[in-house]
Formats: sequence, C-alpha cells, structure tokens
Amino acid sequence: MNPVLQAIHSRRSTRAYRPEPLKAEELDTILEAGLYAPSACNGQPWHFTVVHDRTLLDHMSEVCRTGMAASGQDWMVSMAKNPEFHVFYRAPLAVVVSGLKDGLCPLVDTAAAIQNMLLAAESLGIGSCWLGLARFFFASPQEVRKLDIPEGYDPLYAVSLGYKAGPDAPAPARKGRPIRHLYAPKA
Ligand SMILES: Cc1cc2nc3c(=O)[nH]c(=O)nc-3n(C[C@H](O)[C@H](O)[C@H](O)COP(=O)(O)O)c2cc1C
Repeated sequence: MNPVLQAIHSRRSTRAYRPEPLKAEELDTILEAGLYAPSACNGQPWHFTVVHDRTLLDHMSEVCRTGMAASGQDWMVSMAKNPEFHVFYRAPLAVVVSGLKDGLCPLVDTAAAIQNMLLAAESLGIGSCWLGLARFFFASPQEVRKLDIPEGYDPLYAVSLGYKAGPDAPAPARKGRPIRHLYAPKA
C-alpha cells in the first residue's frame, strides 16, 4: 500500500495523548497540509488558531461540558457527567479551524483542510481527533473573543493533536459498500 493509502486506512480518532508538546516542525507540517486542501474557487477560506495554553484548553473543555449537560441530548449529557471527560482529551494542543463568513463553501472547505491535517498527523505517527463538540464553546461570542480569531471568520471545529498514549485499534469494518457504478442512465 502506498503511504497515502496507508495513512487513510490506519488513521483513527485518538482520545488519549501524552502530555508533551509536538515538535514545532511536525506541527508546521500538519498545518501546512491543511493549507494545501482543495477549496471552492481556490478561496482557501480558512484560519487556524493553534491553542497551546493548558489553562485555556481546560477552560474551553469546561464551557463545552456545561453546554453538553444542558443540551437535552442523553448521550451528551452522560458524557458531560463523566468527571474524566475532556473535550480535547487533554491533548497538548488543539487547532481551532475557522471559516470565512463570506466564503463560497467554508464548511466544506474547512472539512477538507481538517482531513488533510488528520492524515498528515497520521503519516507522522501523531494522534488527532476532529472535535465537533467544541461548538459548545464557539456558541458564546464572549468566550470566542479569547481565541483572537480574525474579523470575518467563524470558528467551526477543533482538532486535538499530540503524541498517542497507546496504539490505535484497527479501523472497524466499513458499513457495507454504498457505491454504485453507473454506465448508463436509469431507464
Ligand atoms: C464532523 C465530526 C465531528 C466529530 N466530533 C467529535 C467529537 O466532538 N469528539 C470525538 O471524540 N470525536 C469526534 N469525531 C470523531 C468521530 O467520532 C470518529 O471519526 C468516528 O467515530 C470514526 O472513528 P475513527 O475516526 O477512529 O475512524 C468527529 C468526527 C467528525 C467527522
């Protein structure tokens, strides 16, 4: 298997990290991979905020827990009640990925950038997790101000990054093969 396919097949969401920071070159390589994602009309409508501050990450996690506890969704409420739960899984850093409000397809384009970063991380043996639950922090403009995101961008997702605390389990089997080859229109 070539290295790209190898990374695609072996990547898993990492939910336990070693505390030490990533080497700066490794972090740069991962961020650069995000910048090379495709985007509608080459708009590159993204901005990455790399949060290294432990206190801020812990605070963000607590704000999310509060939001999750009040969400009314059972699975989120029970996650929030677990005292061990941390939205960033205590990774040494998280990248907040923001999209340009006036972009053509900021949500799709930032998703492509995130996937590039996850695969780049995996290719370097670094753990990552795409974090939608960070939206509970992004819901508060007052909290978001602490992230110093440039004007005109909305925070959409976060990605935790760090050295893996243990080996990943293999990816579970796919749920079928929802693929159809069409060589002629349906009659
Ligand atoms: C849009 C999106 C949001 C996600 N949000 C979270 C999250 O907040 N917390 C988390 O632990 N995993 C999150 N994940 C990771 C998924 O749970 C994970 O990709 C899925 O279970 C498949 O597992 P794998 O990544 O190990 O293959 C998210 C993934 C995506 C694509």
